[in-house]
Amino acid sequence: MLRVSNSVNLNKRMLAELIKVSKEYKAGDGKIIALQPTDFKLQEGQLTLILGPSGSGKTTLLSLLGCVIYPTYGDLYVMGQHVNNLNAKELSKLRLENIGFVFQQFNLLAPLNTEENIGMPLKMLGLHGREIRQKVNEAMELVDMTDRRKSLPKQMSGGQQQRVAIARALVTNPKIILCDEPTASLDKDSLAVVMTKLKGLAESGKAVAVVTHDPRLQIYADRAVEVKNGFVTDFVIQKDASK
Ligand SMILES: Nc1ncnc2c1ncn2[C@@H]1O[C@H](COP(=O)(O)OP(=O)(O)O)[C@@H](O)[C@H]1O
Ligand SMILES: [Mg+2]
Repeated sequence: MLRVSNSVNLNKRMLAELIKVSKEYKAGDGKIIALQPTDFKLQEGQLTLILGPSGSGKTTLLSLLGCVIYPTYGDLYVMGQHVNNLNAKELSKLRLENIGFVFQQFNLLAPLNTEENIGMPLKMLGLHGREIRQKVNEAMELVDMTDRRKSLPKQMSGGQQQRVAIARALVTNPKIILCDEPTASLDKDSLAVVMTKLKGLAESGKAVAVVTHDPRLQIYADRAVEVKNGFVTDFVIQKDASK
């Protein structure tokens, strides 16, 4: 059995870091601790897998890294910025400029077709006409969706919508790429294509984190953690796990 190093490489730049970060949600009169106090780092050049059963806190961890939610306690740094101290506007700017997020439920805008959905982050960044068209075309080709450029989300399968969501996350060429169960609706071939692409992006210097409950994906990972009941622990990767 081949075991690979699961450690953080000190030569690589840290792009996101949780220091004793926890997240609580209100639930009726009480609260749910979705994430227990956690130290966690995301560094460039690595594909990190976040494994664990449903309800364990995976999306919460990813949403913190993606500046979608604030920590309840602890310190969160993303691209060198102390997220705790940012207001909503600063947070969305940080997100738009640095983070590509593939949401579990895709979050495509229903009235927009494929190319409009993919181009939305570029519009928000203030880009125009030809530049948007060129980047959208490249992103569409990446996920092989060029022939569905005029389709609305409801006219496409779950797997196709997921590919559009992936293209939208990559179109701004973000430094941090976060994917929440990106392969859940994909068939086996599309899954291999997407994971190989994400691995290539990590190798090109980006920080990639992929949430999954599928341990077979560890063949693509540089490191992995497991989330259980809000507790995050290192997970030793076994590269022959798929056999
Ligand atoms: N916005 C929210 N409000 C209240 N509880 C939430 C919210 N988001 C998640 N939770 C709860 O936090 C826990 C962890 O959820 P989540 O991070 O979505 O887990 P996973 O992605 O591993 O399925 C679950 O008990 C879930 O019900
Ligand atoms: Mg989830």
